[in-house]
Amino acid sequence: MEDFWSEVAEEWALLWGWSPDPARDVLLAETGVRPGTRVLDVGCGSGELLARASALGASTAGVDSAPGMVAVARRTAPGADVRVADAQALPWPAAVVDVVLAVNALHLADDPDAALAEMLRVTRAGGRVGVAQWAEAGRNDLEAVERAVALAHGEDDVGRDDPHLDTLLREAGLEDVRDGVVAVVWHAPDDATLVRAALLGEDAEGRAATAGAVLAAAAPYRTDGGGYRFVDAVRWAVATVPSR
Ligand SMILES: C[S@@+](CC[C@H](N)C(=O)[O-])C[C@H]1O[C@@H](n2cnc3c(N)ncnc32)[C@H](O)[C@@H]1O
Repeated sequence: MEDFWSEVAEEWALLWGWSPDPARDVLLAETGVRPGTRVLDVGCGSGELLARASALGASTAGVDSAPGMVAVARRTAPGADVRVADAQALPWPAAVVDVVLAVNALHLADDPDAALAEMLRVTRAGGRVGVAQWAEAGRNDLEAVERAVALAHGEDDVGRDDPHLDTLLREAGLEDVRDGVVAVVWHAPDDATLVRAALLGEDAEGRAATAGAVLAAAAPYRTDGGGYRFVDAVRWAVATVPSR
């Protein structure tokens, strides 16, 4: 798929967009976002973090490389200045942001260190940086489903690595690093929703071929009502930009 994230943007918002809200709220609290704080969300996806920051009274901007995601984010967070750009070339001048955030996005940049350097460039001295990312293998119920999908697609390496976000921020020269883990829940009301979400971006034929494996892997997470509930973990870290 030429632009995967644009193609799946609408379904992503519906099926996955809300799930990391607890991690978003930790970042907003830990970085001290309040009325008037200038917040930039890098890899903003469908805009849920921007909406939450706006609700706190922040002045919000977002950036995503997928035009389809940007279109959805502009709808989700109408007051935000959302732009299409790569995380490694942010279309803002230096030091115009108080808080820069990235949730499950930094690792997708071609060069995450370069993307982080860009995030620091646009943040003022004394400003705050907050990043969050899925925790490592062994901490996420959804791994069972991801493993089944990967096996069905002939892939063998499916485990996530510890993102070591605290180290990442320290090595970037940031100060006052704090980090932690927050639980996030993902749920689906029925089989069809689970299969659609697990096989995001696949056509009906692809879904039909892998649905059985997805449902079998998800069986331990089935709820009494016929839906599914998975508890996963997101690692987060925040830090302060030093005076230059
Ligand atoms: C897993 S989604 C997460 C979206 C959102 N941050 C959230 O927490 O729901 C990853 C997002 O990062 C965007 N992305 C991937 N690579 C990027 C890059 N190099 N620069 C900017 N955005 C990027 C994708 O288009 C997608 O919207």
